[in-house]
Amino acid sequence: MTDELAELETHAQQALTSVADLDALAQWKSTYLGKSGALTRLSRGMGALPAAERPAMGRRLNELRDMLETAFAHTEARLKASARDAQLAAEQVDVTLPGRQPDVGRLHLTTQVLRQIIAIFADMGFQVWESREVETDDYNFGLLNFLPDHPARDMQDTFYVEMPPDAPKVVLRTHTSPGQIHAMRRYAPEPLRVLLPGKCYRNEQVTARSESMFHQFEFLAVGRHITMGDLKGTLDFFAERMFGKGTRTRFRASYFPFTEPSAEMDVSCFLCGAKGCRVCKYTGWLEIGGCGMVHPNVLRNGGYDPDAFSGFAGGFGPERIALLKYGIEDIRLFYSGNLRFLEQFS
Ligand code: DAH
Repeated sequence: MTDELAELETHAQQALTSVADLDALAQWKSTYLGKSGALTRLSRGMGALPAAERPAMGRRLNELRDMLETAFAHTEARLKASARDAQLAAEQVDVTLPGRQPDVGRLHLTTQVLRQIIAIFADMGFQVWESREVETDDYNFGLLNFLPDHPARDMQDTFYVEMPPDAPKVVLRTHTSPGQIHAMRRYAPEPLRVLLPGKCYRNEQVTARSESMFHQFEFLAVGRHITMGDLKGTLDFFAERMFGKGTRTRFRASYFPFTEPSAEMDVSCFLCGAKGCRVCKYTGWLEIGGCGMVHPNVLRNGGYDPDAFSGFAGGFGPERIALLKYGIEDIRLFYSGNLRFLEQFS
């Protein structure tokens, strides 16, 4: 039996050297140390030994079991460590590879320009007001002193909302000016300074210069001694902040039903330093938008006594300002979801 023990030891040690992974190790364990393994089988043979030999043989058996178990534990630790190393190697990251740029949203060009405009007017004490985009015909036209047969009311220019036959006419606002009436009715007879930015809609042919949806911002100041000089000063400040130091403004006589007198405001061409270029058509001036002194009828409709109060107002388009500032040729680029265009403005 001593021989058998020695043979088993050699066998087991040898087999262990060719164990290459944890599965094979488990197999090895059950072959030599398992319940029906070689060592167990040998210990069963103890019964057949003479009583005097049993203690020594028992000790040898235990020693062998200890030895094999220690060998097993060492091999298991080694195999587990190398499995871990292999996994780490497989998961290795090449930190020198270029990263992938995540897509980040940005503010739309119109929003950026509007925020700039809001900041400039806020510095002059104008508060921002949002007015509704769906208006009654009365707010959009009548209360702004449009005569009933004014051509701007024509179906061609205005999107009408379908209403029951007797209901008042409802339109998508064609300009931000109806916000003037809302603001005045909210504050009269207190003086006010508001900026009203927002979307407007016109039922027009879409071209490089006009979209059916666009933005405007309306500015309105009402008080006891407001003059056209205040309007001019406000616009000078705005033009320098928006288009750069040294930008000048000028008025050209114009007509709007809700202002008297009315003007078109131009700024000196900031693209060519007013020397004349293709954009300013070699005039040195760029047209920005309409403005004027609030018509007495409009003041009255807003709740002010036109004998005691006066005011100025104007309405400009942020898209037009952006077109000029960035040399964009086509307004249709703004709202067609063209990311290659929009991503340039971040
Ligand atoms: N509402 C005018 C338009 O859409 C622009 C405008 C002109 C607004 C003169 C005003 C103003 O407040 O005073 O064409």
